[in-house]
Amino acid sequence: MLFNPSLSVTILGALSLLPTVRSSPLLSLSEQSLNKRISFEGSTSITLALNADFPDPAFVQHTDGSWYAFGTNGNGKRIQVAHSTDFVSWNLLDVEALPTLSGWETEPDHWAPDVFKRSDGKYVMYYSAIVSSNPNRHCIGVAIADSTNPAGPYIPTSTNNPLACPLEQGGAIDANSFQDSDGTRYILYKIDGNSVGHGGDCNNSIEPLAATPIMLQRLSEDGVTPVGDAVQLIDRDASDGPLVEAPSLVRAGDGTYLLFYSTHCFTDVKYDVRVATASSITGPYSKNGVSVLALNDQLYGPGGATILNDGNMLFHGWCNGNSVRCMYAAHMDVSGGSPFVE
Ligand SMILES: *[C@@H]1O[C@H](CO)[C@@H](O)[C@H](O)[C@H]1NC(C)=O
Repeated sequence: MLFNPSLSVTILGALSLLPTVRSSPLLSLSEQSLNKRISFEGSTSITLALNADFPDPAFVQHTDGSWYAFGTNGNGKRIQVAHSTDFVSWNLLDVEALPTLSGWETEPDHWAPDVFKRSDGKYVMYYSAIVSSNPNRHCIGVAIADSTNPAGPYIPTSTNNPLACPLEQGGAIDANSFQDSDGTRYILYKIDGNSVGHGGDCNNSIEPLAATPIMLQRLSEDGVTPVGDAVQLIDRDASDGPLVEAPSLVRAGDGTYLLFYSTHCFTDVKYDVRVATASSITGPYSKNGVSVLALNDQLYGPGGATILNDGNMLFHGWCNGNSVRCMYAAHMDVSGGSPFVE
């Protein structure tokens, strides 16, 4: 059993935490809600998985059954790696998963990695990085582990090109790997329209608002080579605030496609996880408007989630006096079209 519903998690007051976040959060709610003891007793499977800065987590299961999680740059690493044998308690590893860069990218940002195991047994990582020729844009790169160790190191593919890079629309971030039931591989990502926005909340709350569509690109079995053109699955609307981002696609037990995503600016108390559903992978997707994870007594700005077909889920939320984004683990019921955190 992965999750003990009576498990309690405690944040012990104001631990002074390590490094600073990439931009200071402008949170408007008091910090009290996170300074009290956090307890998830009874109601859900949510646990504080890693009490450290580890935003935008994704994960993969190793052949030995243990789990590896990957997070946005922090704690002195470009791409962070954590390990767990039970999916509940995690250890931050002292490894650099991405020791070398590709020709198109530059420091410092390395955001929202995603890793999957390919049919040849190798682990493949997608990540977002700054485009060296255009430092206001991020695009999505690919790196492959040179062994069958999920912790890496991951070496960028030799093409020296990003996998997705729509510069005029704002670049691309937040890659998510998906393999359909027929074996077809896809990558999802967000077109980062905020970077061509006109200011305000996450640079995109002043009219005219830029589009921030979630795209689906079919790939060949190597996970690297695009097949055909990307298609748009959803875009932001007024109820989403400045953006939608952080896609994570799941095929529910009944065959429904569940597209999880975050809305609002990541520094906003309204940052959350929502779901849109479709009966075909390319859509049309309908948003149900409900947050499957949102601000509550225990969680502050939860989002950036990754959910796999078995319902295992990692996401981040502000913690330690809202100074960093910690990693949380949960289990989602994905048996049908109305998923919920168990
Ligand atoms: C906001 O968008 C403008 C372009 O409209 C760009 O010059 C600027 O760098 C963006 N700011 C951020 C923080 O992305």
